Amino acid sequence: MDFKDQLKSSVDIVNVIGEYVRLKKSGTQRYMGLCPFHNEKTPSFTVHVARQFYKCFSCGEGGDVFSFVQKIEGISFYEALQTLAERHGIPMPKRSLAADEETKVRDAVFQMHEIALEHFRAGLRAPAGEAARDYLARRGVAQPAVDRFALGYSDRSGRALLRLLEQRGFSPAQIEQSGLVRKREDGSFYDYFRNRLMFPIHGESGKPIGFGGRALTPDDNPKYLNSPETPIYIKSNVLYNLHRAKEPIRKQDRVILVEGYMDALGVSSAGFEFVVASCGTSLTEAQIKALKRHSVNIAVNFDPDAPGASAAERSINLLLQEGMAVRMVELDGGLDPDEYCKQRGAEAYGERVRNAKGYFYWLADRARARHDVHTTEGIVAVLKFLMPAVERISDRLERMAVANDLAEYIGVDRGTVLDSFRKAAADRKEARLERPKEIIRADERGLLNVLLSDAPGREALLRDLSKIEILNRLSTRRLFEALMAAHAGGAPVTFDAVSARLEAQDQNLLAEVALSEDAEAHEITEEYGRQCLESLLRSGERNRRTDIKTRIREAERGGDMAEAVRLARELEAMERGPGRNK
Ligand code: GTP
Ligand code: MN
Repeated sequence: MDFKDQLKSSVDIVNVIGEYVRLKKSGTQRYMGLCPFHNEKTPSFTVHVARQFYKCFSCGEGGDVFSFVQKIEGISFYEALQTLAERHGIPMPKRSLAADEETKVRDAVFQMHEIALEHFRAGLRAPAGEAARDYLARRGVAQPAVDRFALGYSDRSGRALLRLLEQRGFSPAQIEQSGLVRKREDGSFYDYFRNRLMFPIHGESGKPIGFGGRALTPDDNPKYLNSPETPIYIKSNVLYNLHRAKEPIRKQDRVILVEGYMDALGVSSAGFEFVVASCGTSLTEAQIKALKRHSVNIAVNFDPDAPGASAAERSINLLLQEGMAVRMVELDGGLDPDEYCKQRGAEAYGERVRNAKGYFYWLADRARARHDVHTTEGIVAVLKFLMPAVERISDRLERMAVANDLAEYIGVDRGTVLDSFRKAAADRKEARLERPKEIIRADERGLLNVLLSDAPGREALLRDLSKIEILNRLSTRRLFEALMAAHAGGAPVTFDAVSARLEAQDQNLLAEVALSEDAEAHEITEEYGRQCLESLLRSGERNRRTDIKTRIREAERGGDMAEAVRLARELEAMERGPGRNK
């Protein structure tokens, strides 16, 4: 067994995927959840325990534990191995897998970030960190929060971290790629962060991948200096605090979205651990997808100022598009979330979150503030403003309910609102045409599952299989072919062995068969396999009979009576059954 197989057999795919996707048990061997790889409202993402395989029946994405981690984290195969090995405390063999250049660089940059994080933390405890410690005290950040958020301080020297990285043996090329240093004209480096309070930014798996550095005084600009993008830090994919918040988000089945590091820190410390921050950049689709894997219920709590409100407005549409249920938290007194928690207390903040309005009320408020709903033009303008958001509600009943509520809320005639929504809905219809799915018959699925298992008698079934004509008509014929080929090759006929012989599309089909519900409904025995095989044979006969009947009718219609008679005899013989037609 090579390292890959060894690792695969010692991790549980349900646990691994369960860290990223809310899964629910559904049957003895299956878990289901919302697919993290496409937008859906009803779960079609399936994880199969025994087969250690996942598959989305809707978008077709599927694979083993490695391909899942690879895809969801956007990392290479080697890194997925590494991540999983690390998480399960299994040592990676040093040279078992040659990492490519890119992976090596990323690996080095990851390590440098671990080192930098500890270096900054030490900096905050050191004498030079006094001003930073004072700053935190002034802002009411207590030691537990400092520890939990791994806050640090980058000193004024401009070379302390650089030295450390050099000492640890990183090459100049690696150090340059880390984003932790800057290059002077003469080619020498200096520390990127100087005299700043350091907020480490972690990837979803919990590794530090970047930093936000806050100035300690108002005259130090910019207020926040953020890591540049590096091979491990792609800003549009990352949400601050997600790795800490994901468990609480799942437990609570909701998430609070704030704008700033300090907001996330303050809100979390007030007891609302299910909070993440967008870090000053506008929210992206990738970030929302990452959230959605843990909960679809989001409470947006941006700053009450104008930029905060426009950012919220932009985010709403994107959130709705991804199928999130959006509420808006409003705080009075012009306070941001961090200030609110500190000044008014956790209880008051909790109440604001609980009372958060549905996004359309919030939008309607904004629209009403801008337009006079007592005039026709005003109403038209308001509806136009609200339309994109309401249109995004894909459920028809919900959309109607919203339209009703809105009409009442803005004091507009219901009919007017419904009319404009109906129009919008009609425009939308064309956009959604489902792709036709290949149909797999139950007996087909059953037989395949028996053949894929260790059931005794598989040998005999495989032999008989070659006789049945109908195989060529089945959508799974290539699966059967691969099975027979694998068997003929003499190696054990495992799921992986069969899968390896197939093209991507048929690999998906195979996974679909293996993960199907009725694969569980029946005991996988030779007996069951026999039944399926016979059922296939019978329908093969039925098909042939229908076929002959059609040809008889055609022959009659065409006046070829001789042919019609010949076919009728054939049919008769067939109906008498095999062995009795002599
Ligand atoms: P405090 O001002 O310390 O309370 O922090 P905050 O987190 O509340 O920051 P603020 O609401 O001003 O800004 C929200 C987020 O935008 C910050 O957490 C940063 O991620 C980002 N941000 C703010 N100012 C700057 C800046 O000057 N440069 C960059 N690159 N990002 C900034
Ligand atoms: Mn703030």
